[in-house]
Amino acid sequence: MLLVDIDEPLGREVAATITARGGQAEFVHCDVARATDWARLRERVLAISPAVHVLHSNAYFEAVAPAADLEEEDWDRQLAVCLKATYLAIKTFAAALQREGASVIITSSVHALFGLPGHPAYAAAKGGLSALTRQLAVDYAPAVRVNAVVPGPIATGAWDRISHEERERSAAATVLGRLGRPEEVAAVVAFLASSESSYVTGANLVVDGGWSISKESS
Ligand SMILES: NC(=O)c1ccc[n+]([C@@H]2O[C@H](COP(=O)([O-])OP(=O)(O)OC[C@H]3O[C@@H](n4cnc5c(N)ncnc54)[C@H](O)[C@@H]3O)[C@@H](O)[C@H]2O)c1
Repeated sequence: MLLVDIDEPLGREVAATITARGGQAEFVHCDVARATDWARLRERVLAISPAVHVLHSNAYFEAVAPAADLEEEDWDRQLAVCLKATYLAIKTFAAALQREGASVIITSSVHALFGLPGHPAYAAAKGGLSALTRQLAVDYAPAVRVNAVVPGPIATGAWDRISHEERERSAAATVLGRLGRPEEVAAVVAFLASSESSYVTGANLVVDGGWSISKESS
């Protein structure tokens, strides 16, 4: 398994943890918004194997501000990291993915389904990813299955910056009454990566503890 991130210490730590538990993992520094980084990654991947069986597009950067207050460079960076990166991934690895058949998993968000205050670029990127998932599933079938996970509030590192009150509010807005755990999304990604989901393609699978099925007002 190749792990890709711009956070080198974290990437190396995760790779070491997987290796220590008996898995195989290597970290490669790659800014997923940059085509030149994808070209370097391609060289490393193809040196290991001409076929790619699973590709997970998951990187996250978020610029929070209403559209009128959002700097153009933040809009561009958001769309590049969260949307263009998936296009670059497919462009880079289309042949390797089709060689023996593969599963592509794209991390979208409930922001693709709902408007939440102050997230125009994130919503545009995630809405784009959910549509792109269906499009790629059509274009690369039958060799490649393409699905999205659509997480609700998940207590990852991204939530470290969020206040206790806001975490409580988000937890209360789910029907399960709590934030999700990263491994609860990872389990769905593992399902989509495996042959257990062999007849699933073009799906947007919501993993949100029921956040999107319940609203307080009528
Ligand atoms: N945590 C949530 O509540 C939540 C909800 C919905 C969707 N998501 C989605 O889940 C995915 C993972 O997010 P997370 O919550 O684990 O966030 P996180 O901030 O914990 O992790 C995101 C990772 O992306 C890396 N990254 C940022 N820019 C990059 C770049 N240019 N190139 C390569 N790597 C880059 C960061 O270094 C970090 O390791 C994202 O796609 C996010 O939009 C998260």
